[in-house]
Amino acid sequence: MEKNIAVLAGDGIGPEVIKQARKVLNAIEKKFGHTFKYLEGFVGASAIDETGDPLPTATLDICSKSDAIIFGTIGNPKYDDNPKAKVRPEEGLLRLRKIMGLYCNIRPIKVYPSMPPLRKIQTYGNIDFVIYRELTSGIYFGKKGRSIDGHVAYDHCVYSVREIERIGRAAFEAGLKRRKKLTLIDKANVLETSRLWRETIKKMSKNYRQIQLDFLFIDNAAMQLIINPERFDVILTENMFGDILSDEASLIGGSIGLLPSASIGEKVSLFEPIHGSYPQAAGKNIANPIASILSVAMMLDHFGLFKEGKEIYKSVKYSIDKKMVTKDIEASSPLGTEEVGDFITECILQN
Ligand code: IPM
Ligand code: MG
Repeated sequence: MEKNIAVLAGDGIGPEVIKQARKVLNAIEKKFGHTFKYLEGFVGASAIDETGDPLPTATLDICSKSDAIIFGTIGNPKYDDNPKAKVRPEEGLLRLRKIMGLYCNIRPIKVYPSMPPLRKIQTYGNIDFVIYRELTSGIYFGKKGRSIDGHVAYDHCVYSVREIERIGRAAFEAGLKRRKKLTLIDKANVLETSRLWRETIKKMSKNYRQIQLDFLFIDNAAMQLIINPERFDVILTENMFGDILSDEASLIGGSIGLLPSASIGEKVSLFEPIHGSYPQAAGKNIANPIASILSVAMMLDHFGLFKEGKEIYKSVKYSIDKKMVTKDIEASSPLGTEEVGDFITECILQN
């Protein structure tokens, strides 16, 4: 199979973790006789430094021409709390999501048996759920602004039935292939948009009678995620709640450095770790590359290359079982980003 892949490594640890993901893809190419062609583009703070724009046209062109996008991380502290900054790096990612129509963000949460889940929290069973986060609407993309004197600010949260239905469909379909449970997380006791979500999803559930549907308010869900994570199968939620819950959920798996994501939509799909740019770690060879490596496994699944994806999942599990991991997982580990990438690549080649 031949595929064109856009590579947007971004800021902070992005380039280092993407490098490991590409090593792994090279191993898959070799082993299975595929050809992956890469086109690299700037995005985020590095793109602002280079062109003044966090999502330059050249980058968009590369993405439109590709079969998939692999994305590193975005963000640089020099833009935080800086009222003089005219553009922010994050805008690059948000605009890319919007332009590519990437409305469905899939964030699977798994616990590896050889790793203690959420240190100090007791668990009672198998934890394996997936978050379906709406990604191109809600408070992230509503009208925002300031009053003339700058003392009042607003961010509108807007959702349409159409936007809820299309991600709803993806989540119900995912439930059919899993344990047939769907939990909608919202704040329907307060927010009108949440009430529209409930109405719409309830209506849709008539066409998915095999799925057991329930509802949780976001505040309660944040707690249930810690005390009873086994209860979840598919979580469906809006943009901002999904952002927050997925960071929280990452602790259950032991490290945010393990969690990949896929953003599926109308055009080209995008694959990225859920973690941020971790600027303090950039260039130090300490970032965990596994989230990026698993993100390319999700890309292979998306291409229908399930056997190839499985090779990656298996090798990642092996590296965790053998404690061939970075320090975020095993404080005493001498291994860095490169070494973990090398170990997983070797596993694939030698398997
Ligand atoms: C994520 C990130 C982004 C988001 C940031 C970098 C804009 O936190 O993908 O979870 O809030 O969506
Ligand atoms: Mg986030």
